Amino acid sequence: MSCRIVVLISGSGSNLQALIDRMDRTQSEIVAVLSNRADAFGLQRAHAAGIETRVLNHREFPDRLSFDRAMIQALDAFAPDLVVLAGFMRILSGEFVTHFHGRLLNIHPSLLPKYKGLDTHARALEAGDTEHGATVHFVTEELDGGPIVLQAGVPVLAGDTPTLLAARVQEQEHRMYPLVVDWFASGRLRLMEGHAQLDGQRLGPTGLRLDNMETDMRGTRDA
Ligand code: GAR
Repeated sequence: MSCRIVVLISGSGSNLQALIDRMDRTQSEIVAVLSNRADAFGLQRAHAAGIETRVLNHREFPDRLSFDRAMIQALDAFAPDLVVLAGFMRILSGEFVTHFHGRLLNIHPSLLPKYKGLDTHARALEAGDTEHGATVHFVTEELDGGPIVLQAGVPVLAGDTPTLLAARVQEQEHRMYPLVVDWFASGRLRLMEGHAQLDGQRLGPTGLRLDNMETDMRGTRDA
């Protein structure tokens, strides 16, 4: 049976595009895209792919909880097995997170637990880090603090700006998010007792590293 996915966006939707591009090769289907902004470019990507869209403008709700309750209702109408946050720039209430417990994934542009919140690329540059990256994790009530599934690192180069660094990080994001979504859709990835589990193995506090996995896979192929 196909895994029904709803993707939540606020902007460009390049991660959404990476997921769309992989759909025909997976056991999953993006059944809807929801945005809190009517002008999010990702909505056009969804239309082009023939995916249903919904816009819920958070400014039209008196508070976070009533917006989140409307989102829960809108999402439940699609009976999602998985809700994917792909550049969805709203903090979610405990009620929302609990409702989708174990079926809510996020991608964050830093090597968590470093740089939770906003402006991650500028903060990594200011700190003089030599490595930066991105993280895919299950969402829990702690902002950017849920169990980590996969991380990918990129080098920080001389002359980097937040924009240059963001572009390098996004290249990795577009490789790692479809992979994690595939793992979930095929039943290999689960949230068990507060930990991410892949193929029955509990993952460590910073999950897996995409770079190591690719080295391993190359090793297998070359053998
Ligand atoms: C991505 O880089 C994602 O990591 C980030 O927003 C970008 C969305 O890009 N998410 C966050 O900052 C969440 N706190 P996209 O719309 O092109 O996929």
